[in-house]
Amino acid sequence: MEIKEINNRYSELAESECCLSCGGAINYAEPQKGEVCVDLGSGRGTDVLRMAESVGETGFVYGIDISDGMLEKARKNAEKFNIRNVRFVKSELEKLELPDKTADLVISNCTLNHAEDKQAVWDEIYRILKKGGRFVVSDIYATIPIAEEYRTDPVAIAECWAGAVTRNEYMQQLEKAGFASVEIIEESKPYSKGKAEVASFTIAGKKASGCGCSCGC
Ligand SMILES: C[S@@+](CC[C@H](N)C(=O)[O-])C[C@H]1O[C@@H](n2cnc3c(N)ncnc32)[C@H](O)[C@@H]1O
Repeated sequence: MEIKEINNRYSELAESECCLSCGGAINYAEPQKGEVCVDLGSGRGTDVLRMAESVGETGFVYGIDISDGMLEKARKNAEKFNIRNVRFVKSELEKLELPDKTADLVISNCTLNHAEDKQAVWDEIYRILKKGGRFVVSDIYATIPIAEEYRTDPVAIAECWAGAVTRNEYMQQLEKAGFASVEIIEESKPYSKGKAEVASFTIAGKKASGCGCSCGC
């Protein structure tokens, strides 16, 4: 889906109550006091505000989103609850407006499936994580490649599976980005969507803290 369409679609949803999540990444993330955390596709900011409370005054949380409506809603929510240790940044997932080695923790819920170039997103997650940093991501994958006819289907887009890749592709992209071991924390049974079949999962992984030698890298 094009960025302009994402912006329009999610800006319309910013004030609604509808649930936009497809897993429990936040429930497994365990942000610690003093940590720097990032939520990719932060929507109305709910998970960012929860993490802000956990990391406390010495920590900081960035919410990343491309939708003006969602960013505005999230900023208003932070203001309403007087939460200061957060910043909502307008940025594409494929080109994160954050410096290298910023984050101890990256989370995301039901967002990466929207990205046109998912490999670029995983490369960016790897880049912004500090050594030893971790990610917890909830997302949707396809059990068989999604047919071309669904890629632009409004219902498939609205249900967040139009852009899903297969589980194998997902794992290969993670490995290519540099994440050596990935844990699947929760996974739904596959379910049919027209001629497609999809499933949701929550996965976690870590950026190695060094190369394993004694060079201190
Ligand atoms: C399904 S919603 C999930 C929102 C939130 N994580 C939640 O669980 O409530 C997806 C969010 O990702 C954002 N998004 C989608 N594609 C994006 C992209 N390529 N770059 C940045 N944000 C994107 C949308 O604007 C939207 O706020």
